[in-house]
Amino acid sequence: MASKTLLVVAHSPSPNTERLRAAIVAGVNTADLCDLGLVVKTPFEAQASDVLSSDAVVLGTTENLGYMSGALKDFFDRVYNPCLEQTRAMPYAAYIRAGLDGTGTTRAITSITSGLGWRAVQPPLILKGDWQDQFVDQCTELGAAMAIGLDSGIF
Ligand SMILES: Cc1cc2nc3c(=O)[nH]c(=O)nc-3n(C[C@H](O)[C@H](O)[C@H](O)COP(=O)(O)O)c2cc1C
Repeated sequence: MASKTLLVVAHSPSPNTERLRAAIVAGVNTADLCDLGLVVKTPFEAQASDVLSSDAVVLGTTENLGYMSGALKDFFDRVYNPCLEQTRAMPYAAYIRAGLDGTGTTRAITSITSGLGWRAVQPPLILKGDWQDQFVDQCTELGAAMAIGLDSGIF
């Protein structure tokens, strides 16, 4: 059984954002020295129990109307109270696919995770503007960094 578990909660409503989620998973898998469990869910699928049984979280969302996706907000609405007392200091990272901006989503995620007492272990990765293939590389690096950090006990 894996010693630690990384939970990826990613909203991927488009081919590009599906590539981003896949890149996170690929990054985790490149860190092949790691004895990690990996759980990948959409925000609608993910439950409080998934968070409670994880040791770190990667959040992925689009920016819609200056905020995180409704899907990710729904996730937080459902898990907030059940997780509040038991997931303090949870290491997390977030990536945001934004057409133009990303700041409203960054602010919202920072606010909610601060309320939960979660700990950002990477600055938010904002992938904005026209699509660039380097976004995939950045997500691969984020996945690998999260896996290595968790497995090695850095977090
Ligand atoms: C209804 C809607 C609202 C959006 N609002 C924003 C926004 O407020 N800020 C922003 O940067 N991008 C906004 N976007 C762009 C999305 O973030 C972008 O379409 C999404 O990340 C998917 O990117 P992709 O075309 O690379 O798949 C919006 C898109 C839609 C459909």
